[in-house]
Amino acid sequence: MPTPHDCFRLTTICYNCWWPFVSNSTAGWPAKGHPLRILMIGDVVGRPGRRAVKSVLPSLKEELAIDFVTANGENSAGGFGVTLETAKELFSAGVDVITSGNHIWDQRDIYPHLKTNLPVLRPLNYPPSAIGRGHALVKDVMVINLLGRVFVGTVECPFRAVDALLTGLKDRPRAIVVDFHAEASSEKMALGWYLDGRVSAVAGTHTHVPTADARILPKGTGFVHDLGMAGTLNSVIGFRTEDALVRFLDQTPHKLNVEDRGPLRFNSVLFEVDETTGKATSVRRTDRDVL
Ligand SMILES: [Fe+2]
Ligand SMILES: [Fe+2]
Repeated sequence: MPTPHDCFRLTTICYNCWWPFVSNSTAGWPAKGHPLRILMIGDVVGRPGRRAVKSVLPSLKEELAIDFVTANGENSAGGFGVTLETAKELFSAGVDVITSGNHIWDQRDIYPHLKTNLPVLRPLNYPPSAIGRGHALVKDVMVINLLGRVFVGTVECPFRAVDALLTGLKDRPRAIVVDFHAEASSEKMALGWYLDGRVSAVAGTHTHVPTADARILPKGTGFVHDLGMAGTLNSVIGFRTEDALVRFLDQTPHKLNVEDRGPLRFNSVLFEVDETTGKATSVRRTDRDVL
């Protein structure tokens, strides 16, 4: 049994003690020259979202020979934030790295774990003094999490933050994927162009609405404006419609409850990456319904 350590290059997670550890085994990895298949899942909303991931992901990984999985967990705990327990559920279902966004601070339970090597990220462009980290290297795939500034929050510049990180990289990993958690499609598109040819994929999150624009930019970066969500289909972005309507119709504060009735939707995008160049070779939506 590998022992817990503080190495930056994480490989996998021990499902007994939940410590990330480095394994020398490369069994199951694509041979050189074969594309690396990276699945990115949108915002997982509450228990129904976790149920959708647990129901779809294990078989999807087999069906599509997926090598690596990210999921945005910022809404995985009751719709607001992520806890160690909800993170464990997602890791057990086959997620390698959990990204987040503006709701990462909603559950204090996760704070101490953000300081460890557990691959749960907060956006990179919070001030350096904020706890946690905004990127991780797992199975030699670098995952970077950024937060937009248009209609979302007052954080540092996501463009300059990712620029500094990429410029400082000594070794190029097999692939670099970015979860850009942002509201404005213009800001997401601009970041896609800014990083074209420098990262394998830029995938937007935060709106919970999947977009039909998945493509490869001219210099080889896979791009999609928004991955969508894993959650209840008949809802307002995963929450009860009646709760959302009170807020819009009455313009008064009203608690948002996760919608847990009815069919579920699982939204994700699959990026194939040539690991010799780190560039995307194909991108396609992989959305599933869970009845
Ligand atoms: Fe979200
Ligand atoms: Fe968000």
